Amino acid sequence: MKRAVYPGSFDPVTKGHLDIMERAAAVADELVVGVLNNNKKTPLFSVEERVNMIKDVTSHIPNVRVEAFSGLSVDFCKKCGASFLVRGLRAVTDFEYELQMAQTNRSLDRGVDTLFFTTELRYAYISSTIVKEVASYGGDISGFVPPQIAEHVYAKIGTVKGSKSF
Ligand code: PNS
Repeated sequence: MKRAVYPGSFDPVTKGHLDIMERAAAVADELVVGVLNNNKKTPLFSVEERVNMIKDVTSHIPNVRVEAFSGLSVDFCKKCGASFLVRGLRAVTDFEYELQMAQTNRSLDRGVDTLFFTTELRYAYISSTIVKEVASYGGDISGFVPPQIAEHVYAKIGTVKGSKSF
């Protein structure tokens, strides 16, 4: 059984994340999406909300499981029995941080390798931060996140699509 863990904040999950989940699930027997419960950050969505939103948008992928975790990603891998960590690379600007993280994880646990997927070009500029920024001004985020996620984002931020005033 080749099990992989895709860890992240997913605050909120984007179309770019979803694309990586679909492609990683196609090469792994099981993909566990690990949603970080990070006390140091104040996310827009609670960890339970993020888990439920990802469950919703991945319901068409039978071999995906979604779980919250806290602590180290490699420890979560061990708990899940996973030997691969999945991460997406959008641009060279991601590379330095991702390389450092992969090397750190490898030194923490020799049983875990990181698999990188290059983000589809059409999603390369999308990030959860950009989604929240655009939504906070009532901008259109339908190109960035699945429709049900867009509804949750506008509702949580308290804006309405197209509500921008000049
Ligand atoms: O979606 P993000 O915020 O880029 O994901 C970052 C994440 C969650 C993968 C990373 O911060 C992480 O693995 N955090 C858990 C703590 C850990 O394992 N740190 C060591 C790796 S540097």
